[in-house]
Amino acid sequence: MEKNEESLKNPIRQNRPLLDCLNGFAGDKIPFWFMRQAGRYLPEYRAIRSQEKNFIQLCLNPDLASEITLQPIRRFDMDGAILFSDILIVPHVLGQRVEFIESIGPRLKPLRSLEDLKILNLESVAHGFDPIYQTVKLTCQGLPANKTMIGFCGGIWTVASYMIEGQSSKNYETIKQHCYQNSEFINRLFAILIEASYHYLVGQIEAGCQVIQIFESWAGQMDEFHFNKFILDPTEILVNRLRASHPEIPIIWFPKNASETLIQSGKILNIQAIGLDSTVTQNTARQLQKHYVIQGYLDPIYLLTDPKTIEAATRRMIESVRLDSKNNSRYIFNLGHGILPNSPVENVAFLVQLLKSI
Ligand code: CP3
Repeated sequence: MEKNEESLKNPIRQNRPLLDCLNGFAGDKIPFWFMRQAGRYLPEYRAIRSQEKNFIQLCLNPDLASEITLQPIRRFDMDGAILFSDILIVPHVLGQRVEFIESIGPRLKPLRSLEDLKILNLESVAHGFDPIYQTVKLTCQGLPANKTMIGFCGGIWTVASYMIEGQSSKNYETIKQHCYQNSEFINRLFAILIEASYHYLVGQIEAGCQVIQIFESWAGQMDEFHFNKFILDPTEILVNRLRASHPEIPIIWFPKNASETLIQSGKILNIQAIGLDSTVTQNTARQLQKHYVIQGYLDPIYLLTDPKTIEAATRRMIESVRLDSKNNSRYIFNLGHGILPNSPVENVAFLVQLLKSI
């Protein structure tokens, strides 16, 4: 199958390198941004965080969240600003109890039966995300004209795994049982999440986001059959709806640890880019690059090493994925997963200077 040329309506160059790359325009430089570029490795983030201990409230505070979104751009001048929020805002707005506990992570009151789903209220998506849309508006006002505003949501499977397991999971025991039994519960929950995520993304786009990334962080946990049914199919429904209502907005999907399974499925999604994790082989990356812009995939652990090691790895990776020295049009630099909180800021600064010099 060929790349779907009709997916975006006559895009025009906007002099925003990241957006232009997703729309098929080559630039002189490789566009870049980093997953989790706003966050704990930045002292200015930690300063704000120490004033607002409740992480959900931080995400729902437009002044603080837009300031945090802009912090890495001011310091490092990335090509993309990713909205400061979290994938678990969707269950929160739907009415599930969600908390973030320091040095432990997210805790949710688990949903495990059709009865439990009664607490989810789809009507709240009409206004529940309003503070986040306000964050997008404020951020866009502060963003230089050559930057791209990236909105996001979690993949349906990934968000559902938190809603059912109640926390970051090792074995995905409960959600997998429901998927394997194809229970009414799982199908109902997925339908609710598709609906809520669609509205959430539309709201972000209408507030000013120019690109959407869908984080399917736990995509690598499923066998092939269930990957197709519970990861690929819901993603396809979500992206096709978005494609129909907002054909001009590029979509990046990040199916962590599942690029190979995606290729095996034979399905080409109607999206512009695939985010690659650090385990992807060069061969897989090249195969995906025939159909999509690829984004990734330097292991974030490199940022814990030293400039010489970072430089060697970055150059090696870029050589393996870019088509030729002048044509960078099908590649966006990113990490294979989020920046780790203990990454020295100087190493991030070094990587940025290196990318700007290549
Ligand atoms: O800079 C950015 O990337 C934008 C903001 C962003 C956050 N989370 C902020 C955050 C984004 C895009 C996310 C996505 C997210 N959240 C994912 C998908 C990407 C991934 O990393 O796989 C997932 C799985 C979550 C769920 C989540 N949020 C977990 C498991 C945790 C705890 C572990 C951790 O990294 O702290 C969070 C908390 C979280 N989300 C923080 C930040 C800055 C740390 C909160 C703090 O300050 O204590």
